[in-house]
Amino acid sequence: MKTTTRISLFYRSLALILICLLPITLSAQSGKTPLRVENGIVTSASRLASQVGVDILQDGGNAVDAAVATALALAVTWPTAGNIGGGGFLVYHGDDGHATTFDFREKAPLAASERMYVGDDGLSTNAQHRGFLSVGVPGTVAGLYEAHQALGSLPWADLVAPAVALARDGIPITYALYSGFSRNQPFWDQFPSSAAVFMNNGEPYQMGDNWVQPDLARTLERIQHQGRDGFYKGENARMLAAFMQENGGLITEEDLALYQPVEREPVRGTYRGYDIVSMPPPSSGGVGIIEMLNILEGFDLAALGHNSADYLHVLTEAMRRTYADRAEFLGDPDFNPDMPVSRLISKEHAASLRASIDMTQASVSDEAEFADIYESEETTHFSVVDQDGNMVSLTYTLENGYGSRIVAGSGGYLLNNEMGDFNPVPGVTNRDGQVGTDPNLVVPQKRMLSSMSPTIVARDGKPVLAIGSPGGRTIINTTMQVILNMIDHDLNVAQAVEAGRMHHQWLPDVTSMEANAFSPDTIRLYEAKGHETRVRGNQGSAMGIFIDRETGLFHGAADSRAGDGAAVGY
Ligand code: GLY
Repeated sequence: MKTTTRISLFYRSLALILICLLPITLSAQSGKTPLRVENGIVTSASRLASQVGVDILQDGGNAVDAAVATALALAVTWPTAGNIGGGGFLVYHGDDGHATTFDFREKAPLAASERMYVGDDGLSTNAQHRGFLSVGVPGTVAGLYEAHQALGSLPWADLVAPAVALARDGIPITYALYSGFSRNQPFWDQFPSSAAVFMNNGEPYQMGDNWVQPDLARTLERIQHQGRDGFYKGENARMLAAFMQENGGLITEEDLALYQPVEREPVRGTYRGYDIVSMPPPSSGGVGIIEMLNILEGFDLAALGHNSADYLHVLTEAMRRTYADRAEFLGDPDFNPDMPVSRLISKEHAASLRASIDMTQASVSDEAEFADIYESEETTHFSVVDQDGNMVSLTYTLENGYGSRIVAGSGGYLLNNEMGDFNPVPGVTNRDGQVGTDPNLVVPQKRMLSSMSPTIVARDGKPVLAIGSPGGRTIINTTMQVILNMIDHDLNVAQAVEAGRMHHQWLPDVTSMEANAFSPDTIRLYEAKGHETRVRGNQGSAMGIFIDRETGLFHGAADSRAGDGAAVGY
C-alpha cells in the first residue's frame, strides 16, 4: 500500500463527509441517457455507495476493490438490503478473459432440521420468514474478504474505511430511508436493539436528519482491522451467539467459525454470438437466464417488436418452462451432486421446450406438480467497471426489506431472514404457496436456493455488460429482459433498464405486468392468447454497465425505480 494512497483515502473520507452535508454535484446518470465516461463506473441503489466505489477506483483500486468498498458502504447507506448480516453472489469477468464467481449465500445453522418449520398441524409455522429462527448464518463479510484475497489489489483496511466513516459520521435521511424506517415501525417497537438503530432516541427519524450508527461503525472497525475474523470470531461472534441463545435463535460461535464462502465456476451459455457468464447454483439465476435465452434464440424477437403481444407471449412461455425446471431440480450443489445443470442449459433441452410453444395459445402450468412460494422483492444489485475494463456484477440480500428487522444486539447490523428461501414443509407442495421438493429442504450447513442473478455478458472473451437486479423471483426475468432489450432491440443500457417489464414464474399461472408499461390493446391481444394478467408496481431495479468496445467508453445506468440510486463515474 503506497503512502500516497493512504493520504488520498484520508481526503476521500473527508470528501464523503462533505458530500453528506452539501448538495451533490457528482458525475451521475438518470433517466434514459447513460452516463458515458472513460475510466470507471459504479452503479448502485445508493449514490453515496457508488461514490465510495468510484473513489476506490480513482485511488488505483480494481473492480473487486471497488465492489468490496461499495458493498460495505451499502451496508451503512442502504439498510433495506445492503448488509454484513446477509449473503449474496459476486460474478467477476476480467478484461483478460478470466471469469469466476464467489458464493457467499447464508447457510442453515448446525442445529437446523428438515422439519423445524412444520407445526403440529403439519403446516408451515412461518417461522422461516420471521423471528430468530429465520436467520441464516451470514456470508457477506467472508465472501467479500475471500474475493479480495483472490482478486483485490488495495489493502483490505482501506476498502472498509469509507463504510466506517459513513457509519461513524452519519448520512442524511433521504425519502427512501425515511419511508423504509416508517414502514417498519412495528418491528422497531418489537426489537429494542433495532429501535436503538432505526429510531432517534425513541422518536422517528425525519428527512434530512443526520443518521449516525456508532455500533455498526465499531463492528466495521473490527472487520477493518481483523478481516473476516472481526466478524466470525472474537467479540462479534461471542455477542451474536449470546444474543441468539437469549432469544431462541440457533446460530452459535461454531456456526460462525465454520462459515466458508465458495469460489465457483460460473455457469456459461451463449446467445446470438454473446457469451453469458452468470451465477451457478445455489443461485437459480444463471441457469434460468441461460435456459430462457436458449429457448428464445429460436425466435426472431426483433421482428416480433419490443413488448408486443407476440413478444410477451414467447417470453412468458420460455419463463413458464424454465421456472418449472427451477422448482423441480435446483438447490445447493454441495447437497445435490446430481443436479442436471448441463442438461438444463443445453441447446437440445431448449429446442425440445421450444417445440411445445404454440404462437397462438398459452400453455397451461401443470398444477399437479409443484406450486410456488412467496419470495421477498428486496435485495440489491450493483455493477462495477474499472479502468482496465474488468467487471464485477454483485447481488446480495437480507431477504425481506431490512431482513428479519432484528439488529444483532450491540453489533448495529441487521440480520437476514434468509431461511425463508428453503422449502419449509417436506413433501407438501400446493397452490397455496408451498414447495416441498427435496433439493431445497432444510439441512444443517446447506445453502438455500436463490434467484439472485448477477450476470456478465461477454463478446470475444471480453466483458461488455454487467447486469443484475433485486426483486425476489422476478430477478431472473428482469435481468433477462434487460439483456434482450440490448441484444435484440438495440436499446442503450439506460433505456434497457428503464423499459417496462413483466414476470411469469410458472405457478401461479398469471403474468404480472408493470403499471403503465404496456398499452391496453397490447394487453388485450396478449390475454386473447389465454394469459391471465395482473398489474403490479415496479419490477426490480436493474443496475447496468456497458462497455462500448468500439469507442472504449463505459456506459452506466442506475434504474430510476431505485430512489437513492446513481451511476457514478469518472
Ligand atoms: N432472497 C432473495 C433471493 O435470494 O433470491
